[in-house]
Amino acid sequence: MINILVVCLGNICRSPLAQGILSSKLPQSSFFIDSAGTADYHVGQAPDKRSIAVARNYGIDISAFRGRKFEVADFDKFNIIYVMDSSNYNDILTLARNSKDISKVKFILDKTDQIKPCDVPDPYYGGNEGFEEAYKMLNDASDFIVKNLKNE
Ligand code: 4NP
Repeated sequence: MINILVVCLGNICRSPLAQGILSSKLPQSSFFIDSAGTADYHVGQAPDKRSIAVARNYGIDISAFRGRKFEVADFDKFNIIYVMDSSNYNDILTLARNSKDISKVKFILDKTDQIKPCDVPDPYYGGNEGFEEAYKMLNDASDFIVKNLKNE
């Protein structure tokens, strides 16, 4: 089993989208995909309505996901931890206990985009178009990740 965690700030906009997209592209029998936030603002809450809507437009149901905060034990539970932006990256690295923990943390857009820093912009304070953009970026990133995982 390969366990993959996707992390953003609130765990209600970007990481639930990435969790839903990756889960739709990988077999449940060999991959476990989860998401978490670096902050506790939305623990126990459903994803943002705009994330639920954009995912639904592409045939993915994320409405049952619930927000949770990243915890140090996640370094032990997961093989790969994908973050959305450099702020998430710094927050997670602050919690890392050793070089093995650090080595698990990667930018989800790493290698899929020539633009640096390779951040998925936070759509929370914007309009619906930001959620569509985040979906497209995360879908492309997921295709890239899935292709590489299958080649391993
Ligand atoms: P996310 O977006 O990190 O993609 O889930 C956000 C959600 C909530 C907040 C910020 C970003 N917030 O400040 O409550």
